[in-house]
Amino acid sequence: MQRDPLLDFSGQVALVTGAASGLGRALSEALALRGARLVASDIDEAGLEALAADLTAAGAEVVTEVADVSTEATAERLVAVAVERFGSLELAVNNAGIGHPFTAFEDITEAMFDRQIAVNVRSVLFGMKHQLRQMTGQGRGTILNVSSMAGLNGAPKIGAYAAAKHAVVGMTRTAAVEHARAGLRINAICPYYTHTPLVDNAVLVPGGDTADAHALLESGCPMRRLGQPSEIIAVMLMLLSPGNTFMTGQAIAVDGGVSAL
Ligand SMILES: NC(=O)c1ccc[n+]([C@@H]2O[C@H](COP(=O)([O-])OP(=O)(O)OC[C@H]3O[C@@H](n4cnc5c(N)ncnc54)[C@H](O)[C@@H]3O)[C@@H](O)[C@H]2O)c1
Repeated sequence: MQRDPLLDFSGQVALVTGAASGLGRALSEALALRGARLVASDIDEAGLEALAADLTAAGAEVVTEVADVSTEATAERLVAVAVERFGSLELAVNNAGIGHPFTAFEDITEAMFDRQIAVNVRSVLFGMKHQLRQMTGQGRGTILNVSSMAGLNGAPKIGAYAAAKHAVVGMTRTAAVEHARAGLRINAICPYYTHTPLVDNAVLVPGGDTADAHALLESGCPMRRLGQPSEIIAVMLMLLSPGNTFMTGQAIAVDGGVSAL
């Protein structure tokens, strides 16, 4: 079947972190099935194996790497894996991330904040550092960082997460401006709550009911619902598209209208 050139990633090597679950898994499938050669990374070894089995059966080229994104060593290693196995790195998606239970601002702990910075901020900063070294050297590349609506607006009860996701937007804009003349594009996506394991299985309210939490989140959205992964992936693909060559430094809300309120 002939691919739409706007969604044809053949000839490109893609790195996706947090690839074993949720948005990372769905995006990994979407890219690999559209021709990208994929480095899929996560701390969840079983989840990565399941992804690799599915993609290999579908004829895609994928290498998996079990790694914790909170260290610079991982960031460097993941780029090296892409280059050693496939010869280059055109697309990097810094997606791995964690939430935390709803917590009033005055109850945020040092441990909660430090964990957010380690997983949600260090991963993006050091990830981009090594991805940009490679992309600058090869003269092409696109980075997509996964922020959140909590990276653009106030986000009640998730203050430490909001701090981390605002940092992702700041790093995205800064790196984009630094590398625009080199033709490298760096953008962020900012989804509202979406039905992934992070939202459906996590303890949003300690001791509380997930359905109640979802009802509250739905009521705060003009579309009166949470997002579906496919709705976020559609925009991620647009941001990574080979046809999207003049867009950089943007933080794109995909949020059922929340940011328009
Ligand atoms: N689902 C939402 O509502 C939503 C909304 C806005 C932003 N996001 C962001 O989207 C991204 C993906 O989230 P998701 O909803 O798919 O969640 P998810 O929990 O389904 O997937 C996250 C993946 O990241 C991996 N991961 C966690 N910590 C890691 C670490 N230290 N090193 C390597 N991998 C690690 C997990 O194993 C998991 O496979 C996150 O950055 C999240 O903050 C999600």
